[in-house]
Amino acid sequence: MTQSLTIRRPDDWHLHLRDGAMLEGILPETTRHFARAIIMPNLVPPVVTGAHAAAYRERILKAMPKGAAFTPLMTLYLTEDTDPEDLAQAAASGLISAVKLYPAGATTNSASGVRNFDRVRGVLEKMAEIGLPLCVHGEVTTADVDIFDREAVFIDTVLDPIRRATPGLRVVMEHITTKNGVDYASAGGEDLAATITTHHLVINRNHILVGGIKPHYYCLPVAKREEHRLALRAAATSGEGRFFLGTDSAPHVDDLKEHACGCAGCFTATNTMSVLAEVFEQEGALDRLEAFASLNGPAFYRMAPNDETITLTKGDPVAYPAKIYTGAGPVTVFDPGYPLHWRVD
Ligand code: NCD
Ligand code: ZN
Repeated sequence: MTQSLTIRRPDDWHLHLRDGAMLEGILPETTRHFARAIIMPNLVPPVVTGAHAAAYRERILKAMPKGAAFTPLMTLYLTEDTDPEDLAQAAASGLISAVKLYPAGATTNSASGVRNFDRVRGVLEKMAEIGLPLCVHGEVTTADVDIFDREAVFIDTVLDPIRRATPGLRVVMEHITTKNGVDYASAGGEDLAATITTHHLVINRNHILVGGIKPHYYCLPVAKREEHRLALRAAATSGEGRFFLGTDSAPHVDDLKEHACGCAGCFTATNTMSVLAEVFEQEGALDRLEAFASLNGPAFYRMAPNDETITLTKGDPVAYPAKIYTGAGPVTVFDPGYPLHWRVD
């Protein structure tokens, strides 16, 4: 019996597209399935002004494969020098859809992020006023906090105080990796949502560290214990509006992943929809895949869901490339560790 599933075309609410030859090489992996994506601004140098975002958007559009129908939703990288008026103007013109908060030093290219949250108070108040979402990389960065605790400590010591001090601020907790993140997002009001990546539904920290170190499973926030992975799976497959897909697909060339100081990031753009279908089927929740991948995100971002649909069909294991060969070098595609049976037609 052929099993198939037709859903609205999905969107990716957290994506790294990079620039130059890497952008050109990996963009088709996203545009093949996704209609829109929130584009991360952590380039070198970062996308900090409306003018930077406009120029980056042009470079993305120029790199689009022929015939692709894809809309990049741009973001600004919040710094302590961000000008609330520039940001408000970029939002009003429709150029940007969100602002990204990286605590300084939290992850790849985050050195210009925020150190002193008092310095961005004016910007956050402006964002609350105009309803512009703040996408948050939720990890503290101080050396005294264990890397596996950084998300939970961030929620208590940074995120919750920011939200209390800025009523009406719309926040996306990005790539949550813990039960603490699920619980905090669940308890928040309508101004709070959380994205979940594809890979955090599949791997826990054992996948990274048992039987030899696996650099292609290393990302930030780092995968946690199994109990956290299970909490993420329950949240993603719950159908609840506050949880939606942000793949955090983050390409790095193999040389830099398989390195003495390897870069953080899993590249999942190529097979995300097949992996998600497998996960949702395992959880008996195929009927909720559309909510997670195609409906909840646009609802939070106050956009219409896509009119077009995609169809996934179950059959023999799906063949997908082990690597994408870009002009910048090869990028290894995320390997869930088991065969995938759902093909996007
Ligand atoms: C991202 C990257 O490589 O830009 N890496 C990652 O592990 N997710 C940065 C980020 O989103 O933290
Ligand atoms: Zn990311």
